[in-house]
Amino acid sequence: MKTPLVAINMKTYPESTGEAGLKLAALCEEVFEETEKSIAIAPQQCDLSLYANTFGLPVFAQHVDNVKQGSTTGRITPEAIKAIGCAGTLINHSEFRISPEDVKILVSRCRELGLTTIVCTKDAEESQAYAMFKPDFIAVEPPELIGGDISVTTANPEVVSDSVKLVKQVASEVKVLCGAGVKNGKDVSKAIELGADGVLLASGVVKAKDQKAVLLDLVSDI
Ligand code: G3P
Repeated sequence: MKTPLVAINMKTYPESTGEAGLKLAALCEEVFEETEKSIAIAPQQCDLSLYANTFGLPVFAQHVDNVKQGSTTGRITPEAIKAIGCAGTLINHSEFRISPEDVKILVSRCRELGLTTIVCTKDAEESQAYAMFKPDFIAVEPPELIGGDISVTTANPEVVSDSVKLVKQVASEVKVLCGAGVKNGKDVSKAIELGADGVLLASGVVKAKDQKAVLLDLVSDI
């Protein structure tokens, strides 16, 4: 996946539900086409198939379950998201933590299927530990800054630069994203300055009054 990457986790906000979510994804696609910048979206789980078949930009699941295909009611397998055309998945998001063993197995299952993995972490040490599983991306997001007004790049720039340093020590090919409170192009530029390969964000775009203006600003300097 091309970097710098701006990955948008649509979570389950009212603004990403139903028609509103489709409108937001259409704006992401517009900006993706107009600017040719690397933008990916992670819509609500119930919308994955629709989005993967409608929009011409990479669609990620917000989570997949480490369960076998078959008698596992209500779960979403890596095989299922691959079959409907998703590009990849978030794993271990702060709002959906799973065990280290499950992270390891899911990264490996997704790799075999050709799915791009973004493993979320809470700090630099966890970034290094999970980099050893060789996901495509580590996304470091201090939980206390998620959904807040101050970007991780301002509130805790060290967690970004330390994550980059520690990840590269164990797996130079693993790329690093940062997230939590990212709102604008300056935050994205700062992330790149700190050594990151892009950002993972949600509320800054999803809850914005003018979502397209925010999207254009986010990719303006990359
Ligand atoms: O996955 C993105 C995320 O947890 C950050 O959320 O709202 O702080 O951009 P937000």
